[in-house]
Amino acid sequence: MSVLVAYATHSGATRTLAETLAATLEERGVAVELADLQEGPDPAGHDAVVLGSAVRAESFEKTAVNWAKTHLDVLVSRPLAVFSCSGSASDPAKGGKQKATDAFLGSLPLRPVAVKNFPGWVLMERIPVHERMLLKSLRTPTGDFRDLSAVAAWAREIAPQLTR
Ligand SMILES: Cc1cc2nc3c(=O)[nH]c(=O)nc-3n(C[C@H](O)[C@H](O)[C@H](O)COP(=O)(O)O)c2cc1C
Repeated sequence: MSVLVAYATHSGATRTLAETLAATLEERGVAVELADLQEGPDPAGHDAVVLGSAVRAESFEKTAVNWAKTHLDVLVSRPLAVFSCSGSASDPAKGGKQKATDAFLGSLPLRPVAVKNFPGWVLMERIPVHERMLLKSLRTPTGDFRDLSAVAAWAREIAPQLTR
C-alpha cells in the first residue's frame, strides 16, 4: 500500500502541510512518497493520491492543474484526496469554502474521497517583490496561519478512505 502526497507550492507553506500529512500517514504504517509537482511524480505506481496546491489569484497553481490533467485517468481510478493552502482559509467568514478549490474540482471530472481547505502563511520575505506590492495594495493580512495539528487530524481522518 503506498500513497503519493504531491504538492504545488509558491512560497513554501503547502510543502509544510504536505510534509505533515505524509508524516502522519507514515505513523499509521502507510508507505508514502512525498513529491513536489515540479518533479513530475508518476501517480501510477501508487494505490492512492493526496494532491495539494497553493492558491494564488483565486486559482490552484498551474503545475497542479496541468499535472492533474496529464494524469486524469490514473487519478479517477484510485482514491484521491485534495487540499488547498491559502491565505483566506483562515477567515471564518469563508466558512471553510475556497473558490480556487471549487473551480479546480469543477474543471475536471475528479471525484475525491476528501477535500479540505487549509490556511497557509503570507510572509512577505518569501514572495517576489512585485507580489508584495500587490498584496500590500489589497491589504492582505500577513502572518503564519497554519494549523498543523488540524492537518495531522485530517490525515488520520482520511487514512481509512485512502487505504480501503
Ligand atoms: C501573489 C499572491 C496571490 C495570492 N492570492 C490569494 C488568493 O486569491 N486567495 C487566497 O486565499 N490566498 C491568496 N494568497 C495567499 C496564499 O494562498 C498563501 O500565501 C499560501 O500560503 C500559499 O501557499 P504556498 O506558501 O505553498 O505558496 C496569495 C499569495 C500570493 C503571494
